Amino acid sequence: MTLFTCRFDAVIHFAGLKAVGESVRKPLLYFDNNLIGTIILFQVMAAHGCKKLVFSSSATVYGWPKEVPCTEEFPLSVTNPYGRTKLIIEEICRDLYCSDSDWKIILLRYFNPVGAHPSGSIGEDPRGIPNNLMPFVQQVAVGRLTSLTIFGNDYKTSDGTGIRDYIHVLDLAEGHIAALRKLDDAKIGCEVYNLGTGKGTSVLEMVKAFEQASGKKIPLAMGGRRPGDAEIVYASTKKAERELNWKAKHGIDDMCRDQWNWASKNPYGYGRSGDSSN
Ligand code: UFG
Repeated sequence: MTLFTCRFDAVIHFAGLKAVGESVRKPLLYFDNNLIGTIILFQVMAAHGCKKLVFSSSATVYGWPKEVPCTEEFPLSVTNPYGRTKLIIEEICRDLYCSDSDWKIILLRYFNPVGAHPSGSIGEDPRGIPNNLMPFVQQVAVGRLTSLTIFGNDYKTSDGTGIRDYIHVLDLAEGHIAALRKLDDAKIGCEVYNLGTGKGTSVLEMVKAFEQASGKKIPLAMGGRRPGDAEIVYASTKKAERELNWKAKHGIDDMCRDQWNWASKNPYGYGRSGDSSN
């Protein structure tokens, strides 16, 4: 038998549970899966001499920011166990680098990833009722859900609905390639970068853009604010532009067009109509 040994140059660590509400109900599940899983991964990396890492963090670590755009230096706070796992992993990474400067680590704080691969064959397929805005809107458009409830229309924003920084998954993917390249930089220690577009879009603006892209009407219901939601969150992208040489290229019309292409070709995601595991 021939044994092949592989060498890993770097790891991009995306894995983790990510439903905010579920994390409030099952914190130990989140700490076990997200934290213990990450610690084991780092131990295995160290044991194999692989000390280059890109980690998927989240804008959730900015909590309710006092001002926008959010820069990487903003104070950090979280409001739920999911967010806490992201913040703790960021801190583990900083400690790891302090203990051993051979580590090269980039923490990427994702804003709101949406859209799908333009081929229409790769997209998001959440289990159960989606928690996030765009998967929910998509399921209304294909007739799986009847209407979208807007979580609060009394925020201090132009139309009263919450504002977020939506980023196309293609741009997000390119941000990871840029981060991997940056890990070759001799000077990098443990650095953090926002991955967003720098533009804020309200819930109603996003729904309108999706209606335009899909030609479908999204019935709306007004609901109260969702606990833990911030009013306005969008990124400062200057550091990523300057140091990663990366900038998002796609706007919300591209995001909605590609997401609708995925949804209309795969209304039941990777499963079939009536498949309850889907
Ligand atoms: N919203 C609705 N109705 C819905 C779902 C969402 O009105 O059914 C609104 C929210 O109130 C918010 C906006 O749409 O104003 C976006 O909500 P999402 O749930 O899509 O996204 P969040 O900004 O709340 O959270 C997302 C990810 C988190 C991540 C966070 C910050 O879900 O994992 O961004 O990065 F931590």
